[in-house]
Amino acid sequence: MLSKTTVLSSVLLALSVNHCLAQDNDASYEEIAAVDLSFRNAGLNPSPIPSEWMDIQAVLKVSFGDVDVANIGDTLTVAQVQTAPTYTLSETEEADEKDTFDSDRLFTVAFLDAGVYGRDNSNQVTRHFLQNNFTVDDDVLRPSSNVAPITSYGAPFPTNGDGPHRYMQLVFQQYQNFTPPSSPSTGSPIQTMSITDYYRASNGGLGKVVAANYILIEQGQATASVSSIQPVNTQSIDSLASSLSVQATATGLSTTRTSSTSSPTSTRNSSGAMASLSFPSSTLSALVTVAGAALLGGMLL
Ligand SMILES: *[C@@H]1O[C@H](CO)[C@@H](O)[C@H](O)[C@H]1NC(C)=O
Ligand SMILES: *[C@@H]1O[C@H](CO)[C@@H](O)[C@H](O)[C@H]1NC(C)=O
Repeated sequence: MLSKTTVLSSVLLALSVNHCLAQDNDASYEEIAAVDLSFRNAGLNPSPIPSEWMDIQAVLKVSFGDVDVANIGDTLTVAQVQTAPTYTLSETEEADEKDTFDSDRLFTVAFLDAGVYGRDNSNQVTRHFLQNNFTVDDDVLRPSSNVAPITSYGAPFPTNGDGPHRYMQLVFQQYQNFTPPSSPSTGSPIQTMSITDYYRASNGGLGKVVAANYILIEQGQATASVSSIQPVNTQSIDSLASSLSVQATATGLSTTRTSSTSSPTSTRNSSGAMASLSFPSSTLSALVTVAGAALLGGMLL
C-alpha cells in the first residue's frame, strides 16, 4: 500500500505534469471563453442558440478541404467553402477527465445559416448540413457509415448584396435515448428550420452544444446598412475563463464525492474508489484531491 506522503508527492508531480500537458495539448479556458463570448457578440446566443444549450468543452477547428478557418468569426468566400468541412477538436483537460468526447459518445453536427447580424430572423436558420451519430476518433469528428445525413452538405451561397451571413457549426451531445425527430427526414434539402423545434422534438435526446464555431460569408456589397459585430474584449475573456476554471474545480470535487450522473452515455465509473480519500478542506487541497483522484483512478484502471 502507498503511504500518504508517497501519494501526496506523486500528486504534486502529477499536478506539474498535467500543467505542462495542458499547455501543449489541451484547450485553455481562455479559448473556451472566447468561443462562448463570440457567440454572444455575434448575436447567436441567446437566439437562435439558447444560452442554456451552450457548454463549450472544446475548440472546434473547421477545414474546408485545404482551407482552414483560423479564427472564430473569420470571413471566407463562397469559393473557399465548396468542399464539405471536416471538424477537429481540441478539448479542455476537464472534458478529458469527464470523458465528454470518448469514443463511445455520439454527437449531432449541424451547419446552419443564421443570416445577417442585427436583423430579425425570427429564430429561423437555414440548414446546410445536419447529421446524427457522429463519433470522435483521434480528435476528429467522424460520421457513422450507416447513418445517412438529414441534409448533406450544401455550400453557402448568400444572396448578393444581403451582407455577411453567419454560418454556425454546432456539435451537440447526443444521448443513448436519442431517436431522430421525424422532421426533417433523412435526405432533406437545404431549407429553413427552427433549431429549437428540432431540439425539442428530440425529447431530451440532445444535450449541450459542446463545441462550436461560426464564419462569415458575403457576396457583393451590402445594399442596406449592416451592424458590425463587436470583437470580444480580452478582459471579458479573462474573467469568464477564471470563472470557468473555478467551476471546473468545483465539478471535479463533486464527481469525486458523488456518482457521475452528468455523463449520459458513460460506461465507466471512476468515483467508487475515491470516497475513502480525505484531505482538509481548503482550495489547495481541493485541487490535490482532484489530481489525486485522477492519479489513483489511473493506477486502478
Ligand atoms: C444512432 O444513435 C442512436 C443513439 O443516439 C442509436 O439508438 C442508433 O442505433 C444509432 N444508429 C446507428 C445506425 O448506429
Ligand atoms: C459508481 O460507483 C459508486 C460506488 O460503487 C456507486 O454508488 C454509483 O452508483 C456508481 N455510479 C454509476 C453511474 O454507475
